[in-house]
This record gives sequence, C-alpha cells and structure tokens, in this order.
Amino acid sequence: MSVEAYLNKGIKEIITEFPKVEEILDEFEIGCGTCGEGLCLLKDIVEIHYLEEGVEAELMARISNAIFPDKNVEFPKRKREVKGPREFNYSPPMKKMVEEHVLIKRWLALLPKVIKNLDLETEEGLQLINNGIDFIRNFADKYHHAKEEDETFKYFDENFDMIKVIRNDHVRVRGQVKSMLQAIENKDKKALAEHLVSYSQILPEHIKKEDEILFPWMDRNLTTNQIGQLYSRFNEIDAEYGDAPIKHRDFIEELEKKYC
Ligand SMILES: [Fe+2]
Ligand SMILES: [Fe+2]
Repeated sequence: MSVEAYLNKGIKEIITEFPKVEEILDEFEIGCGTCGEGLCLLKDIVEIHYLEEGVEAELMARISNAIFPDKNVEFPKRKREVKGPREFNYSPPMKKMVEEHVLIKRWLALLPKVIKNLDLETEEGLQLINNGIDFIRNFADKYHHAKEEDETFKYFDENFDMIKVIRNDHVRVRGQVKSMLQAIENKDKKALAEHLVSYSQILPEHIKKEDEILFPWMDRNLTTNQIGQLYSRFNEIDAEYGDAPIKHRDFIEELEKKYC
C-alpha cells in the first residue's frame, strides 16, 4: 500500500494493523486510541493537530517507520500557514468561546468542594446544587454549547469526526444532567455525587480539545466574512440572554468566596 493510501486511511484501521502507531500518537499527546469515533483519516489528524513543523516531521517519520519498517519511506510534507501551532491567535468569536470556557473551568475547580459538601436536606444545600445545575444547563449548555452546535458547526461538514466527538461529549453531559436531576428528586446524594464526578471528568478534556484543536482548526478554515457573521450572531445571542451570564458569573464568584 502506498504512502498516500495510508494518509487517506482511518486511524483506527491503521492502529489495528500497526498497534505501534497508537503508542507513537500517545507520545505526541494525540489520543486517537481512546477516541470514541476513531474514523479520522491519518491526513486529517495531522491537519487538525497542527504540530510544529519539526515535531510533525518527527511524528510522520516514526509512523512511517512503524508502517514500513524495512523501507525508508517519507510522508509528503503538508502545506502549512506561517502561523505557529500553539500561538492560538483566536478570531473574536473563538476568543469569546474560549473566555466562556474560563468560567466553566472555574466551576469545575469548585466541584470537588461542592461534592464534598453536598446537602439535599436543607433549603440552603438544595439551593446551592440547583444553582450549580442551572449553571451547567443554562450557561455551559444552552448559552455556550449552543454557540458551538447551532452557530459554529453549521459552517462545517457535520460528518467530520472531530465535530462528532464534540457533539457526543455534549450529549453525554446532557445525560449526566438528567441523572443529576433525578438523583436530587430521589434525595440520593451518592448518585448525585457520582454524576457530578462523571461530568467533571468529561469537561476538562472536552474544553482542551476545543481550545487547542477544534477552534484553531475552525479559525484556519473560516473565511473573514464567515468569522464576521459568526461574531454578529454571537452578539445577538448575548443580547437575547441579557444579564443571565452575569448572574452565572456572580454565582461562581460567590461560591469561590464560600469555598476558597
Ligand atoms: Fe463544547
Ligand atoms: Fe466549549
């Protein structure tokens, strides 16, 4: 099989044929082996992760060596923009979403304390957890995830693997929230704590994927015009939500005062 054919092959298939490739990708912090979809083509992975030129050359040389151990085969160099990979010069709409992640990360940092102090018996305890779930549903999901799903993704092919992975994460989070609400209704503190833990395990990796891979990749592929459209749409959404995001920020700040 030719080098080009491997570039156009799904990564799961390549890993099945050459398990060593998974180890190599892991070393470069590209977790394709654990990805739920794994249908990305090798060339897409290289494009999406957008490693530094030297690092990418090393990665491709190692993969080539795993696939063609007896030959000296080189993968063709990919055309790239001058911009470096880790600079993350986000466009205004992407920057906005990255800033929203910061508030979500502050909530995630508080979660261990929230879980430790869960109280479903007093009004104060119930108020706190209900406000927390309100933050997850209305800020992190409706206000923020909706910007991703309903506005940003529509400029891209819905079948693209990375987008499917992100959507799946959102679906999993919504499932956890449903279970949290059920646990509150059943006054089942243990179940509620378990769902909060599961939620707190999905989100950090999810946010990292968006900040470091998905958003920079989207920025590279959106036209200036599309970025402008997206930004105006985000401003309209902000106007629709009024001061709700500010209230959510206040909730996080109060909780930080309480626990930190
Ligand atoms: Fe997301
Ligand atoms: Fe996000």
